[in-house]
Amino acid sequence: MSIRLIANWKLNGSKDFSNKWIRDFVENFSGNNFEYIGVAPPSIFLDHIKKIAYEYDIAIGSQNVDSENLGPRTGEISASMIKDIGCKFSIIGHSERRILFNESNKEISQKLNQVSKNLMLPVLCIGESEEENSKSLTFDILERQIVKAIDHSLEITSLIIAYEPVWAIGTGKTPDPSEINSIHKMIKDVVQSRFPKTDLKYVLYGGSVNSINASALFEQQHVDGALIGGASLDGKEFANIANVFNQLKL
Ligand code: PGA
Repeated sequence: MSIRLIANWKLNGSKDFSNKWIRDFVENFSGNNFEYIGVAPPSIFLDHIKKIAYEYDIAIGSQNVDSENLGPRTGEISASMIKDIGCKFSIIGHSERRILFNESNKEISQKLNQVSKNLMLPVLCIGESEEENSKSLTFDILERQIVKAIDHSLEITSLIIAYEPVWAIGTGKTPDPSEINSIHKMIKDVVQSRFPKTDLKYVLYGGSVNSINASALFEQQHVDGALIGGASLDGKEFANIANVFNQLKL
């Protein structure tokens, strides 16, 4: 089992928020297997969460890492540093990083390498814009993002891909679940045919997932889990999504 449901807090949280979140999550989660749950808070709270959640098997991970391991790079955090405080995974190439921080496919590829080298699981985010979607370019865009990210990352042996259409993030809009299913199948086929040595553990869906639409998504064969932003900020709501996942996927 690997990480299949990830809470991406983005630029939200505090120590008090983390304490309440863990309490709310644990109180409302009906399963007893925490192994597939991942939390990606702002990096400054990783250590705190690790300590308050020590009795559960919840994996912690970062929302980003630097493309280099050390050196004169003021303000950055490296993969070896997050590994050192107990991270199991790192989100890489989220569309907010690609768009707001101009992250290139080359940098994303270097970051994937750093995470793999440090024996953590990279969660590579890919997704098309609304315009690309309306021009039916989704498959081409996703294939390019995958190939550019993995191509140079010779050391990558395993990874998770999160398919997150840019137009679905934080908007309340989602593609039709059956469409997501066929896109996930295509992602699996691309990785298998182009990078047979890479072990693609899971393909997660991200973009406006909540406890109401979760079952329609998790009913799809190739939707292996989810990367959740807004709805993950409430520990109870995130537990409700995990409970739906438990029923349909475990
Ligand atoms: P959302 O964000 O669930 O708020 O749409 C998902 C993400 O950006 O990972």
